Amino acid sequence: MAKRAALVTGGSGGIGLAIARRLAESGYAVTISGRQEGKLLAAAESLADDDLKVEAVVADVTSEQAVVDLVAEHKRQWGRLDCLVNNAGVGIGQMVDDIQVKHLDLQVAVNLRALIVATREATPLLKKAGEEHGKALIVNLASIAGKQYPALLSVYAATKAAVISFSGSTQKELGSSGVCATALCPGFVDTDMTEFAKEMVPADQMMTTTDIADAVSFLLKVSPNCAIPEIVMSRPAPGPDSGGM
Ligand SMILES: NC(=O)c1ccc[n+]([C@@H]2O[C@H](COP(=O)([O-])OP(=O)(O)OC[C@H]3O[C@@H](n4cnc5c(N)ncnc54)[C@H](OP(=O)(O)O)[C@@H]3O)[C@@H](O)[C@H]2O)c1
Repeated sequence: MAKRAALVTGGSGGIGLAIARRLAESGYAVTISGRQEGKLLAAAESLADDDLKVEAVVADVTSEQAVVDLVAEHKRQWGRLDCLVNNAGVGIGQMVDDIQVKHLDLQVAVNLRALIVATREATPLLKKAGEEHGKALIVNLASIAGKQYPALLSVYAATKAAVISFSGSTQKELGSSGVCATALCPGFVDTDMTEFAKEMVPADQMMTTTDIADAVSFLLKVSPNCAIPEIVMSRPAPGPDSGGM
């Protein structure tokens, strides 16, 4: 059995891969999951090439069963879970009078429903780890969009506001078992997801995936007596043309 283990959904690129690398470099055996197999395997290889412990599991998190199977496969591989990172996410911009139900359902399914199902499935393992060493972690990727009511991103922002709320309730339920839950709420980070915004906000003015991994390192570092419900991370001077992000 590994000494510490983490599961990162959407760990095949962007923020998820940066967090997975940081956790692995901090001594965690890591399971990463994603939808596209080629991209996921390349990400796993990039970690394994640096002698980091990684398993890759293809899982489309819109399926409840796929999430159940993902947590079960993580348990089979590493035998424990100390840190769950609910990171998989999608954002689709639309005016409110133009919202298509298929886009609404997809964002709710990936950003919120999957995160809730993964938390449910992972809770017994996290509690066990928390009771063992007092510091199991759930890191939920919310967004500053969940706090700022951005135009055009109403559905995305609503899912992220719900993630912040769910994280707080999770903390209240699991805190006494040594499990802390944090909602990370970044503004624009330079990843594939923000390609749409790079004419407005150049990539070199966005936060980096390393900034987000640094936030996770901070969560790992604080004592078990320190719960951090949310971390809001914004660019120093977000303009009105970027919706405050
Ligand atoms: N980038 C930002 O500015 C920003 C800011 C605040 C919050 N966030 C949040 O941070 C998280 C990561 O964002 P990112 O910028 O790193 O995005 P990204 O580069 O687009 O990566 C998204 C990840 O989620 C996975 N994913 C998407 N749909 C999935 C599905 N149905 N099943 C399984 N995996 C799925 C992707 O895998 P595949 O490629 O295989 O689909 C990929 O690994 C998201 O929750 C996002 O909302 C991002």
